Amino acid sequence: MTNSDEDVIDVRGDGRVGENPCSPVRRTDGDGGEAAAPEPVALPPVRLGRITVPTPVVLSPMAGVTNWPFRVLCEEYGPDGLYVAEMVTARALVARNPKALRLCRFAPTERVRSLQLYGVNPSITAQAARIVVDGGMADHVDLNFGCPVPKVTRRGGGSALPWKTDLFAELIRRVVEVCEPAGIPVTAKIRVGIDHGHETFLEAGRIAQEEGCAAVTLHARTTAEYYGGHSDWSRIGELKAALDVPVFGNGDIWGADDALAMVRQTGCDGVAIGRGCQGRPWLFADLKHAFAGSPERTDPTLGEVCAVIRRHARLLVEFYDGDERMAVHDLRKHVAWYLKGFPVGGSTRKAFMECESLADVDRECGRLDPSVRLPSRVADKPRGRVRFAKKVHLPYGWLDSRTTTPAEREALFGDDPMDASY
Ligand SMILES: Cc1cc2nc3c(=O)[nH]c(=O)nc-3n(C[C@H](O)[C@H](O)[C@H](O)COP(=O)(O)O)c2cc1C
Repeated sequence: MTNSDEDVIDVRGDGRVGENPCSPVRRTDGDGGEAAAPEPVALPPVRLGRITVPTPVVLSPMAGVTNWPFRVLCEEYGPDGLYVAEMVTARALVARNPKALRLCRFAPTERVRSLQLYGVNPSITAQAARIVVDGGMADHVDLNFGCPVPKVTRRGGGSALPWKTDLFAELIRRVVEVCEPAGIPVTAKIRVGIDHGHETFLEAGRIAQEEGCAAVTLHARTTAEYYGGHSDWSRIGELKAALDVPVFGNGDIWGADDALAMVRQTGCDGVAIGRGCQGRPWLFADLKHAFAGSPERTDPTLGEVCAVIRRHARLLVEFYDGDERMAVHDLRKHVAWYLKGFPVGGSTRKAFMECESLADVDRECGRLDPSVRLPSRVADKPRGRVRFAKKVHLPYGWLDSRTTTPAEREALFGDDPMDASY
């Protein structure tokens, strides 16, 4: 989608691109009977500035995962939601780092181009936003205040940043000042806090709203919780009750019924899904059905999964400008997720990890039994990262005060990373 002068962008469009190789299958209750229709859950459209999101279901940004090939797969299955690109480091974008620029690419079929920026320095992040606006590069900008990775938090970024309320407010304000006049809504993605002794989400949500964010997404874990345990959805309900702008709930949606449960339990305006769709872009089809009140769920055979793998590989070759080797290397982690739970032996998995070309991928897919189905016990179960942080890494003395001193800012801004992502 490109920017237009239209007042409102409605992401509902016509025509789907490409082929969706997984056939929907009506899920049964295990005894051969049809599953009961779930209680309908109302999820009205969400307005983000001039963007209307008819079904507020979000592909949560994931570094190394949500580049356009994966987003396209999810969006083809999914509802008219938001499919967010992985975080791009503001400083790398300002430096026109080629890897950062690649992460900012969108497929022509993407209805809303959602980009996520990560920065610590408000001035550099505003410069990155200026590049996005002047280059007509995106329709929506999300700001990353949720990353728990030590490399990020030890520089005061990601989920460490909302602790410093002055810096947090200034960063949002500066980005909104650049994006708002261009009609580009800005949203913020936050965690509950650094740990339970240092919670920030209610204050951060209010600040984000005051500074002009169109919505806030809460991943209901602290930095210390990293990806361990279960996220505390009650926090999403608390934030929803405290804010006027829409709140997207995030954390531990492994199947479409979890999404319904989160909306029911928290009253959130939309849901964001990360790990649950790793190796399962068709989860978005389930989400579409679930929010339309249908019990229909996707239950692909291994043959259908292989069709998705092969298509994903080809999209990645386009993403890497024809470099098959880079594409197939990127595909490896996805293949591990795609095959998770299928009765596929270690030697086959290893063979996929050694693929160097599309022909290799096709050959390995051809060796699998296409009729096998995923055992239902693994269908909607946790996948991807699932551990607690060993330790939270923060800049020296970070927790001593809620605001930054000039010396602290100088140290932080000099340390702003140049890598495109993490
Ligand atoms: C591999 C991976 C990469 C991630 N990268 C980002 C990122 O770039 N930006 C961001 O805001 N969150 C990132 N996240 C966090 C997810 O967007 C999401 O908030 C988190 O996984 C919790 O949601 P889930 O339980 O549905 O996975 C990442 C998570 C994972 C597992």
